[in-house]
Amino acid sequence: MPIEDKKDIQSAYRDPELAAGYVTERFARPMGSVQHEQQVAWVSRVLERTRSQRVLELAPGPARLTAHMRGSFDGVAMDYSPEMLSIARGRLGGSAAGPRWRLVRGDCFHLPFPDAAFDAVYTFRFVRHFHVEKRSAVVAEIRRVLRSGGVYLSDFEHAPPGDTGEETRDRTPAGWIYDARLTPQEIAAEFDALGFDALEIRPNIRHPRLQGQFDRKPGWGLGGLRRGIVRLMERIPGKEPLEWLVLGRKR
Ligand SMILES: C[S@@+](CC[C@H](N)C(=O)[O-])C[C@H]1O[C@@H](n2cnc3c(N)ncnc32)[C@H](O)[C@@H]1O
Repeated sequence: MPIEDKKDIQSAYRDPELAAGYVTERFARPMGSVQHEQQVAWVSRVLERTRSQRVLELAPGPARLTAHMRGSFDGVAMDYSPEMLSIARGRLGGSAAGPRWRLVRGDCFHLPFPDAAFDAVYTFRFVRHFHVEKRSAVVAEIRRVLRSGGVYLSDFEHAPPGDTGEETRDRTPAGWIYDARLTPQEIAAEFDALGFDALEIRPNIRHPRLQGQFDRKPGWGLGGLRRGIVRLMERIPGKEPLEWLVLGRKR
């Protein structure tokens, strides 16, 4: 059984070793690093294009994205895990993005912010860990703290044809965490039902099976070349990406 309960998910990410190794374990290899780089570039572009000044990142973990975000805005990053927040604090301290962020501990199901407090909210590898009822509860909170017309950015695993709609992907010392897998049509319908227009549903890592072949540990040599190939393959259109990056606008 995958871990899917709210409290179990909260405690799974409190493991100090998981928090300490999170970025290097998952995003240092060629495919993960390109995936990360494209998420950062896309979120930064959207924040700039929408001139978002008040930005909230939910469940930032060890500030994987937070520390690389470009642009000039006032950011609040909120996570439940003190262990993750402590690593985030260290990483932000050493980054150019650091001064624009305030770190807060809190529960995404009960956001400690007033209505319409933000122009943009983004969260990655978080909402998708819940089944639809819980996802809806988190997204209702996101919607509440966004101003009308504000933007919400998130990610979903892609559901390939014949997929059962469920997968357990995120491995933690406590066990595998549930991950929802959706088609673009399902994502658009879910956003619509929750009061958002899905403005963009964008593939990230377009050929995961092929690109995965180049995904070896960075220390094994030719890492730069393998990374270059993974990046080049992003230029080739494909219908079965690893994940979808989704931009919604609050109605
Ligand atoms: C898989 S990590 C994602 C980290 C980062 N967003 C990323 O994309 O790499 C999930 C994060 O969600 C946080 N989390 C889990 N349940 C939470 C809750 N109810 N409220 C706030 N944060 C929570 C965990 O502490 C962990 O840092």
